[in-house]
Amino acid sequence: MARGKFIVFEGTDGSGKTTQMKLLGEYLSARGPVHLTHEPTASPYGALLRSCMAGKTDADEHVIALLFAADRIDHIQNAEHGMAGLLEAGVTVLCDRYYFSSFAYNGGFVPLEWVVELNRPAMEMLRPDLVIYLDVSPEDAMARVALRGERERYEDLARQKLIREKYFEVFERFKATENVVVVQSGSTPEATQREVRRVAETLFGGKA
Ligand code: TMP
Repeated sequence: MARGKFIVFEGTDGSGKTTQMKLLGEYLSARGPVHLTHEPTASPYGALLRSCMAGKTDADEHVIALLFAADRIDHIQNAEHGMAGLLEAGVTVLCDRYYFSSFAYNGGFVPLEWVVELNRPAMEMLRPDLVIYLDVSPEDAMARVALRGERERYEDLARQKLIREKYFEVFERFKATENVVVVQSGSTPEATQREVRRVAETLFGGKA
């Protein structure tokens, strides 16, 4: 059986990842089984992270970076629901955030080199076939986050600008080994989804 494709969505908060990933999942499910997942995960490691992000558990930025790396390895290798096993079984896996989120977010607080080293095992275990970066201006992103009515640890304008810059810095750094495609997410969800589908199709033999 052919191995499933592993597609990651990245972007700042409010970039439309969740909506776009869901729509792509519906589209790709016509071809075969699709599994949608996200980081932080729904595991106990992920629950601890969400508590830190919401300010309910006090945590140093080093601890947060370590927890994200731990949650990621479990997400890959877990015997019951790990992504590696699903891909092996021919399932297409769509994941909302992966190691580039750690570089862009956590690498802005603690040394990026250290965050890269923490994530080296995940990079070696499971590299995405495609990373779709949904690009939106920090102003638009903040407006969308405000509409959701919730604010997390990293959600203010200056911070969003830095995160976006950091994403582009690490995309450049890893461009020889990572398949990252930037999709503009500033207009309607429908227009963005058309482009997302076109890009995803390249993994299944479609035109680039
Ligand atoms: P979400 O709002 O997309 O679910 O993401 C949760 C928050 O976690 C978001 O602010 C980004 C942050 N995050 C990191 O700081 N490092 C990581 O490795 C991941 C996956 C997320």
